[in-house]
This record gives sequence, C-alpha cells and structure tokens, in this order.
Amino acid sequence: MNDTNNHRCDLPWWKRTTVYQIYPRSFYDRNGDGIGDLEGVIDRLDYLQWLGVETIWLSPFFTSPQADFGYDISDHFGVAPEYGSLEECQRLFDEAHARGMKVVLDMVLNHTSDQHPWFLESRSSRDNPYRDFYIWRDGRKPNGAAPPNNWSSMLGGSGWNYDPQTDQWYWSSFLPFQPDLNYRNPMVKSAMLDVVRHWLRAGADGFRLDIFNAIYKDASFANNPRSLRIPSEDNPAFFQRALRTQNHPDTFAFALELRAVVDEFKDPPRFVVGEVFGPPELLRQYCGPSGDGLNLVFLFESLRTPFRASAFRELVRNFESTFAEPLHPTYVFGNHDRPRQMERLRDDPRRARLLAAFQMTVRGVPFIYYGDELGLAHHHGMQRDAARDPMAARFRFIPKFLLPLLRKRGILTNRDECRSPMPWHDGAHAGFAPPGTRSTWLPLHPQSSIKNVAQQTKDSTSVLSAYRRMLHLRRSSLALSSGRLELLDAPADPNKVLAYRRVYEDANVRETAEVFLNFSNSEVGLDLRDLHSRPGVRLHSNLHDEPTMPKRRHLLRAWEGAVVLTDHPA
Ligand code: GLC
Repeated sequence: MNDTNNHRCDLPWWKRTTVYQIYPRSFYDRNGDGIGDLEGVIDRLDYLQWLGVETIWLSPFFTSPQADFGYDISDHFGVAPEYGSLEECQRLFDEAHARGMKVVLDMVLNHTSDQHPWFLESRSSRDNPYRDFYIWRDGRKPNGAAPPNNWSSMLGGSGWNYDPQTDQWYWSSFLPFQPDLNYRNPMVKSAMLDVVRHWLRAGADGFRLDIFNAIYKDASFANNPRSLRIPSEDNPAFFQRALRTQNHPDTFAFALELRAVVDEFKDPPRFVVGEVFGPPELLRQYCGPSGDGLNLVFLFESLRTPFRASAFRELVRNFESTFAEPLHPTYVFGNHDRPRQMERLRDDPRRARLLAAFQMTVRGVPFIYYGDELGLAHHHGMQRDAARDPMAARFRFIPKFLLPLLRKRGILTNRDECRSPMPWHDGAHAGFAPPGTRSTWLPLHPQSSIKNVAQQTKDSTSVLSAYRRMLHLRRSSLALSSGRLELLDAPADPNKVLAYRRVYEDANVRETAEVFLNFSNSEVGLDLRDLHSRPGVRLHSNLHDEPTMPKRRHLLRAWEGAVVLTDHPA
C-alpha cells in the first residue's frame, strides 16, 4: 500500500479518481458579497486536499445573467464578475495542479442563455445569419397558433416558445430562457467544440456535460409517442416518451466526436462525464462501442436505490455487468439538483459513514456533493415563494403534500433546498462569508452551528472523519482505486451484509481488498478465518483510524464498513 499508486498503475487517472462537486455560489465567499467565488475555492483547496479528494468539479461560473445560476451562459469565454476573473480561474487551475488535484468544469453544450449574443441575433429576424444557430419552427396550421409539435420540455409543458417578433417558435429542452443550440448546423458544432478546446488549452482537466442527452433532436420533428408514465429518471418528459427529444442516435454519435476532441489533449489526458438520463443499458451507448465515447456517464439509478444490502448488491451487479471494462461506472448520491443524500439516509450519521465506505470502496468513480461529507441534512425550511431557483416557480402548482413523495423519487422542485452555504464553523455566517457580510445569497443551513467543518474535524467519530478516512484509504490502495470487483457471498446474513472483493494485479504486484458493509442496526459476526491467517493483512474500518489484525471471528458493529487489505508478495 502506498500513496503514489498513480505511478504504478496503467489505468487512466480518471478511472481511479474521486470527484468533489463544488457549487461555487455556495462554497466560500471571500469578498463579502454573500456569494461564493473562485478566490473562495482557491482558499479552500487545502481543505479539499486534507479531505483526500483528487478532482474538483465546479458548477458553471461563466458569464451569465444567472437566471439559472450559470446554467444559462451568455459568454463561454468569460467569468461572471460575482465569481471572479479569468486570472483567478487560471490561478485556481495552477493552485489545484500544484497540489496534485484536477479541475473539471461544467460545460453546457445543449443551450445558451437567451441573452447570449447569438440568440439576440437569432431572434432578431428570420434571415439573420445566426437564425439557424437555434431551433426555430412555424407553429401548427391553420394559423400557427399552436406549437410545432407535441414535444414536452424536461420540466413538463411544451418546450416550444412563441416569439412574436418573427412569428415562429424556438425550442428549449429546459426553461424558456435556455434556448437549445442547433447541432445540425455545422457552424454551431464547430463553435462549441472550439469552446471545449479553449478550456482544455487553459488547463481544465475535463468537463461535466450538462443535459448531454438532449443535444440532438429528431430532424423529422415528428410527435413524441404518448405515454401514461409519470416523469422519471429514465424518461424526464411528461406523458410522452422522449423518443425524438432525448437520447437520440445522433447524440450517441456526437459523443464519439467530442471524445476525439478531448483526446487531442494528451499531456495530461482529460475526460468528460455526461449528465444523461435513462436506464444503464441505454446510457452505456454514450460511452461508445469500445469505450471511445464519453469517458463516464452519471448513473442516477443510485439515487433511488433503497439503502439496503440487497438493493445495493443488485445495483453493483447491474453496474458491473453493464459497465464492465473498458467501461467504468459512476456512483452518485446527490448533486445541486437533488435532495441531499441525508434525506434517504434518514439523517442518520451512521448510515452516512457507511455510504462513504461503500462509495470509496466500490469500482466506479465516486462523486461527492459539497456538504455531504458533513452529513448535512436536506434543508426543508426553504420558502417556496421566496425561492431563488427558477424551477420552484415552474412547479408552484404542485400541492405541498406531494413534495415528500417526489423527493423520495429523487426529484426536487425547489433546488435551493440542497444549495445552502457551506458551513465551515459556528461563527458569523457559519464561516461561509466574512463577518461584515450583509447577507448570504441563500439562508444558512439550520444545522450550521452543529454540523460544520471545524467541529467535525475535531471529532474522530464524525461523518467528515469517516469520509476523510475512506478517501485516503482508497487513494492508498491499488485494489480499491484500480482493482476489479467480485461480489462475495456474504459471510453473514446477506440481508444485512454486502460483501465484495477488489483485486489489483500486474506483473509486479497483487493486492486484494475484501469489503464488508453492515447495512443493519445490529452487530454482525463475520467469519474471517481465511483472511485472518494471511501475512501482512490489515483491517480498516470506517469508524476508526488505526488498522487492526482481523480476528477469526470479527464483530462488525451496526452500520460499520470494514476493509481487509492484503499485499501479496509478487
Ligand atoms: C442540468 C443542471 C441543472 C440545470 C439544467 C439546465 O440538469 O444540472 O442545474 O438547471 O441542466 O441547464
């Protein structure tokens, strides 16, 4: 076991890495305007390094009217002033790289802001040279008063928006102020691929690709088939199957083109991870027939998997078979659009510590959403009427009593609830903003004074300590960061214990890690006779720092995760 396994393994770095998502607006405010900024991220790199994450992904900080907090870009080459400047962005790359960390940006290829100069031109007249940068159609006959077809946006309702100035309709997959670009226009594709090259040249290590599944729409503009299915992870459309608006074969083909551009940058290699929706066997098509498409895709199936040993065993089995080498799965339990993961974990820190043990020991890239390493609860108290999130207004018609049910399915209608300022300590503004700051852009999390970085750093039993322990264990072990995975028959009740083995071997080294996760409220006895007798074997737990010798019969505490590491002599 050593901390420099990067040099000893030929698996690409992006398959071995761990990713921490920063929502820049909410992470750390250096200049006291109540909004997090790039200086703030630079300031907290030491924390992230201490925590043990290897890659940071930043939600968009490009120039934007901020109608959807940066997912509405008006200049792909600029930095929004509230977040900082291009110089600060460069410094962020440099400082992260100096610490051996990688920086992944959020690339919104599908749409721009309606304030983007291209769209302002495009909507100005039917014969403007930029008209065809977006998707414009006539309304339905007889007088064009109805949208061109039945296509619904991802948020329900028609995705077509009437523009009286030119008496046509433009298409938006998400909100009306986010018009979709027209990738069937070669100029659009090449302009956007240049944006990609620009940021890779500037030092970005890769991209998270916003709603990549929506890039191509069917050129026939035929209606989507009707369906009675309610919107779900697999089909985020309302009462129709998003056959012609999402996961189009042309988007699978574009994934390969994009990958070829990303692979132009070899030193170091870069990667892209797609935000896409659908069942895993469909999503794997984004990765290309031989792993030559998107390097990774988010597999949001994990968001609705019940927190039980049996359900997690099935999840792993599914991802292992659908994303077998050369593909690679991802494990996501929260992000800036979803209920906080503690919602599913019943606000139980023991479950959060176990989830950290699972996420950092399974084969697949773990994505950790800021604040989840503290076990921060979902913020239920946010006012719908005062919401900053534009989605909240759209969904205000949904009766309150339905909201918990939707949350259970991983759907959030007011995303302010998962975007609270990061609590650093229990002082002014929870340390998120300097003491003189007038107010923070979103209210502080009510748990800030009891769940914050300073307090949890001191407590070796905290959720933060468990995350840190597991992140460091993963990066120190070739088996955990790079090994193949074999599910094991649990040496105890399989309804309680999930067990798997990770194995790494090459010409010089063989390392194994046996992982035992107790998804139950009670102590479980494990028969570790075989492991006990191996030379050089050590047992690590998510609950304490020092490794121990595995006993013949090991007692796994409630919600404990144990990892037995063995270096086998070459
Ligand atoms: C993605 C982003 C979300 C954004 C939307 C539109 O789903 O994660 O935050 O609002 O796309 O860009």
